[in-house]
Amino acid sequence: MKVCVLGAAGGIGQPLSLLLKLQLPAGSELALYDVAPFTPGVAVDLSHIPTDVSVTGYVGDEADQAMRDADIVVIPAGVPRKPGMTRDDLFNMNAGIVKKLIGVGASACPNACFAIVTNPVNSTVPIAAETLKAAGVYDPRKVFGVTTLDVIRSNTFVAQTAGKSTDDVSVDVIGGHSGVTILPLLSSVDGVSLSQEDIETLTPRIQEAGTEVVEAKAGAGSATLSMAQAAARFTMSLVAALDGESVTECCYVQVGDDTASFHAQPVVLGKNGVESIPELPPLSAYEQQLLDAMQETLAGNIKKGLEFANAED
Ligand SMILES: NC(=O)c1ccc[n+]([C@@H]2O[C@H](COP(=O)([O-])OP(=O)(O)OC[C@H]3O[C@@H](n4cnc5c(N)ncnc54)[C@H](O)[C@@H]3O)[C@@H](O)[C@H]2O)c1
Repeated sequence: MKVCVLGAAGGIGQPLSLLLKLQLPAGSELALYDVAPFTPGVAVDLSHIPTDVSVTGYVGDEADQAMRDADIVVIPAGVPRKPGMTRDDLFNMNAGIVKKLIGVGASACPNACFAIVTNPVNSTVPIAAETLKAAGVYDPRKVFGVTTLDVIRSNTFVAQTAGKSTDDVSVDVIGGHSGVTILPLLSSVDGVSLSQEDIETLTPRIQEAGTEVVEAKAGAGSATLSMAQAAARFTMSLVAALDGESVTECCYVQVGDDTASFHAQPVVLGKNGVESIPELPPLSAYEQQLLDAMQETLAGNIKKGLEFANAED
């Protein structure tokens, strides 16, 4: 298994690469790429950890070499939020980065699974899809927006509220990955019964949990360590799936016939990426109302990505 991390020298990229060095199966290859000149040093540093995962570092115009024949490409390359910014404010900086890197991946590893962390995920994932489509190599089963951070945050906050171990809590989060488009399904958490009052307190907290971190870091960026854990979990689920296991993860994928239909929900992953997309569980009236209310925002975010991807360079 070859896994490539793009943006590997960053706040998310470094701890993510560490977790992958520790968790990937023996014999795997971990390729790290970033525009930061010290990226080969990050690779050398990690390579001294005694696991049977080889680590190589690439920089500058070597993105193509880093991605060559990769099975999975994880992308946390880009600029994070500062206080007062929404994820959508990052669009102008990050859209071009994703389009360029995916353009390279389209020829270096056209069969790879692409897992996109770079915000705004609601728009950068459609950009990736359209870019692969323009290159004639788009497989909707293999392009993912990583929304796992919303899931692990939900698990943590629900476990705290319900007085349970986090091991016993598994929350599905649907919609997208910003503000009102993040919808945790708190009415149907297995083994947990929350009051409507708790649900109406927890839902906005989960939706704005990223901002909690941005404000606490006071200008030094957004979630990095919890995001690294979330991306490592999603990557390891993809590794298991590509190896033939059937694994369910919430993620942002194309759910309909075209690239205007991206949506986050529980997805069954298998050896070709998305294996199936089950029907959503029954929603409470509160959840249905939030799902209906987010559609315009989500559709706008997707349209913005598609238009950017298809604009002349
Ligand atoms: N999906 C999520 O849940 C989630 C959560 C938190 C952050 N994010 C996003 O992840 C991204 C990265 O966040 P961070 O805190 O690691 O930022 P960071 O600034 O610490 O790191 C980003 C890295 O990307 C690199 N980079 C920039 N342009 C590049 C390019 N063209 N090719 C390769 N590398 C490039 C930078 O050199 C830097 O090392 C941001 O867009 C942030 O909004 C997503």
